[in-house]
Amino acid sequence: MKSRSDDPVVALVAAAGSGSRLGGEVPKALRPLAGVPLVAHSLARLAAGGVERAVVVVADGLQPDFERALSDAPIPWQLVIGGSERQHSVRRGLDLIGRSGPAEIVLVHDAARPMVPPSVVAAVIAAVRAGHVAVVPALPVVDSIRRVDSRGTADGSIVSEVVDRAPLRAVQTPQGFAYATLVAAHDHVARLGLEVTDDAACCEAIGESVHLVPGSRLAMKVTEPTDMVVAEALLAAFGEQVRRS
Ligand code: CTP
Ligand code: MG
Repeated sequence: MKSRSDDPVVALVAAAGSGSRLGGEVPKALRPLAGVPLVAHSLARLAAGGVERAVVVVADGLQPDFERALSDAPIPWQLVIGGSERQHSVRRGLDLIGRSGPAEIVLVHDAARPMVPPSVVAAVIAAVRAGHVAVVPALPVVDSIRRVDSRGTADGSIVSEVVDRAPLRAVQTPQGFAYATLVAAHDHVARLGLEVTDDAACCEAIGESVHLVPGSRLAMKVTEPTDMVVAEALLAAFGEQVRRS
């Protein structure tokens, strides 16, 4: 494994979604959490964890809003227009990173995870520096899980069976990569027209193995309106602790 002890770290922040499940007037990444847009929270946490610059992927037409939202960001950032799927947005961010200076380590982060602790960011970076080409923060699944049979039955009732959750992990961001590996993985997936759930899955499609580090409940994703309420409460209870972690 190649050690990447001095390589610069850039974050690719995916913020080009509309947030249709969250709803509301403002696109999700610009939605305020304790008065600060989600995307600005994300950049602050990434910077505190060791990221040196960021490329933020945004929806066309919203550049002025993101420029305002990020005016106090602690690290330099650039905006790029995203695509119709998250995968396309990440690809566009990777292209800009490739054109804008040296980056050996890329952290791909969802703007929708505004509270990721800097300690998780730092752990992801450390694992990539140690030579892992694809690193994912993950948590054990706490809910009981059932698998449903989509065919149902003749009387229309849903058939399901319990799934052993012990070996299951819920995946978070930021996911960390050797830049060249992630670009090769995205090229491969685009060439074959594969649909993948995240960037680590892209890397698996080219035969790379994914290294897990512990995630955090604080790195929850804001998806639905109830998540904003939970995020506000978590920030009020643990915000100071997160800033110092
Ligand atoms: N994202 C993106 N480009 C897209 C779609 C999503 O950059 N074409 C980003 C979102 O901005 C978000 C992250 O990917 O930060 C995770 O996606 P998700 O939580 O699904 O956000 P949205 O797609 O915005 O929400 P929804 O699916 O409810 O519309
Ligand atoms: Mg989405």
